[in-house]
Amino acid sequence: MNAQPTALDFLLADLDTALADVKAAARVTRLLESYAAARSEDWRRFALFDASSYSRNLVRRSDLYELIVLCWSQGQRSPIHDHAGQRCWMAVLDGAVRESMFIPDPAGGRLREGAVREFGPGRVAFITDEAGWHRIEPSAGRSAVTLHLYSRPIGACRIYDEAREAVVERIMRYHSIGGLLQPVGA
Ligand code: SIN
Repeated sequence: MNAQPTALDFLLADLDTALADVKAAARVTRLLESYAAARSEDWRRFALFDASSYSRNLVRRSDLYELIVLCWSQGQRSPIHDHAGQRCWMAVLDGAVRESMFIPDPAGGRLREGAVREFGPGRVAFITDEAGWHRIEPSAGRSAVTLHLYSRPIGACRIYDEAREAVVERIMRYHSIGGLLQPVGA
């Protein structure tokens, strides 16, 4: 007997249609808002934390998009990064996160600090490289879980290495795929 489809199954089916239209960014935002507002728990099987860094847990990847559950323990944060020319949506499923924006210098110098915004449960953020680069970290003194949608999928992006004050390429890796932990370094 087939299991009943869950809220996440409906979201995936709607994304398959909505992301086929590159102009449908507002519709995609609404889909993620209604998924996050429904407070469904079906994302929890993908929410696998990693003690060593924030974790990236793949739900689905197609030619059009990748949907990833990111888990943030207190003190973990992303590097300052771009999105490789792709669109990025971020919905907060649990806890709250802080987004710090950085504006690249067209002449290749240091990044300039931009706005800092807080996103609580159910909120959805949207960013493209035209808006800037960003860093994400949990706020509110606790861990957080966010749902990230990239269209199209991002295999590598640029990060700003603060220690070296240099931009370097970063290959994107998954901590788990479909709820299954991946071998370290895969
Ligand atoms: C990531 O996908 O690893 C960073 C999160 C983001 O782009 O906001």
